[in-house]
Amino acid sequence: MIAFLQSCGERRLAFRPQDLDVRPQDSKTGLASLRAKLEIQRSMSIATQRPTVAEIDLGALRSNFRALRAVAAHGELMVVVKADAYGHGAVTVARTLLGEGCRHFGVATLDEARELREAGVRTRVYLQAGFFAEQVAQIVALDLTPFVFDASMIGLLDGAAASAGRKDFPIHIKIDSGATRLGVMPADIPDVISAVRNASSVRLEGVCTLLANAGDPKSPITDAQLRVFNDAIGTLNAAGMKPSVIHVANSAALVLRRDSHFNLARPGLAIYGLPPVTAVRERVELQPVMTFKTRLMQIKRAPAGSGVGYGHTFVAPRDSLIGVLPVGYADGYRRGLQHGGEVIVRGARAPVVGAVSMDLTTIDVTDIAGASVGDEVILWGEAGGEVISVNDVARLAQTISYEMLCTVGKRVPRVIRS
Ligand SMILES: Cc1ncc(COP(=O)(O)O)c(C=O)c1O
Repeated sequence: MIAFLQSCGERRLAFRPQDLDVRPQDSKTGLASLRAKLEIQRSMSIATQRPTVAEIDLGALRSNFRALRAVAAHGELMVVVKADAYGHGAVTVARTLLGEGCRHFGVATLDEARELREAGVRTRVYLQAGFFAEQVAQIVALDLTPFVFDASMIGLLDGAAASAGRKDFPIHIKIDSGATRLGVMPADIPDVISAVRNASSVRLEGVCTLLANAGDPKSPITDAQLRVFNDAIGTLNAAGMKPSVIHVANSAALVLRRDSHFNLARPGLAIYGLPPVTAVRERVELQPVMTFKTRLMQIKRAPAGSGVGYGHTFVAPRDSLIGVLPVGYADGYRRGLQHGGEVIVRGARAPVVGAVSMDLTTIDVTDIAGASVGDEVILWGEAGGEVISVNDVARLAQTISYEMLCTVGKRVPRVIRS
C-alpha cells in the first residue's frame, strides 16, 4: 500500500522512441516520413497529451487485407473506409492498402470522399450510402463512383458529367433486393434502363446490392435476395446492358457465401480484424487492428463501504484500491460498461466499477499485485496473454463491434504501430 502511495506522482511516464515503428505516411518523400514521425511522437508524449490512444497496427491491417483477398473468388476488394475507416483513420488505411494494391475504396459521404482525394488517393472512391440531387456536381468534380439508388438521379448525374466535359462517367446501380433500405426496387429497373439510354455522359459500369442477413451462411433471406439480384441483372442484360462490375458481399458474405462473390467484394469490419460472426473467425485468420489503451492516472484507497463515482452505483464491499483512468464515454468507452466491463492491467483483468463518466472511468485494482500509477491499461486488445475483444466489449455495452469502433472519440489520437 505504502509502495503504491509513494509511486503516485513520482513515476515519470514517457513512451520510448525506440518502441515506435514509425511508418511514413507518404512513402514518396523523406520529409513526409519525418513529419509523420514527429507527429506520432508528439501525439504519444504524455507531456503534451493524455496517454489514452487507439493504436493502429498496420501489419495486422495488411495481413487481413491479404487474407481476405485470397478468399475472394476474383481477388478484388473494395475496402470500406467510411466512418474514418471504422474509427481507424481513413487516410492511413487507404494509403496502407494502396501499397497492397487495393484500387477501390468505399465511403458514405462527400466529406469522407473529399478527405481521401485531398490526401492524394486517386483510385476509385465509391459513394456507397446515397446522396442528394444538389450534390451531383460535387460527385463528378471529386470523380466519385456513386451507388445510384433512384433512377431519377441518373439524368442529374448525366447533366453534371456533361457540364464537366465527362464522356463516360461510371455509375453503379444499387438494387434493393430485399433489404428495404437504400436502392432501386426491382420493379423500377425499366426506369433505370430508359434513364441510361437517354444519357450521353454516364456509363452503367456496375450493379450491386446489400445483403440483410449475410452473417447466417444458410439464410433463406440471402437466397431470396440473390435470386432477386440475379433476375435484376438478367433484366438489364435483356435490355442490352451488361454492367462489368458486380458486387454484393460484405465481410460475412465474402467469407461465408461464395455465391455472393461475383467480381468484387466490399469488406469493412473484417479488414479491421474483427469477425462479424464467429463462423468468419473459424475460416479466415484475422488480426485486430486497433488496441484501445490508456494508463492508470490515480490509485485510491477505498475502505469497505466507500461509494464510487456518480450515484455511488458501486459500493466497495471490502477495503479496495480503486484505479482512475483518463477515459470516458466521450472517448467511446461506453457508459454501459460499468455493468461487467473489464480492462487488462499487468496482464490480469480488472473490473470496471462505478459509473463510466464523460472523461474518467474507475476500476478495481485491489487484486492486481503492484498496480501503480502509469501502468498501461488495455481497454480492448491483448496484453500478457489476456485478450479483451471489441466484440466482448460491444456485447457488454449492448451494441455491436461496428459501433464501438466508429465511436472511438475524436480526441483519442490514432497512433500507428506495427
Ligand atoms: C453497402 C455496404 N457495403 C459493405 C459494407 C461493409 O460491411 P462489413 O463491415 O460488414 O464488411 C457496408 C457496411 O455497412 C455497407 O453499407
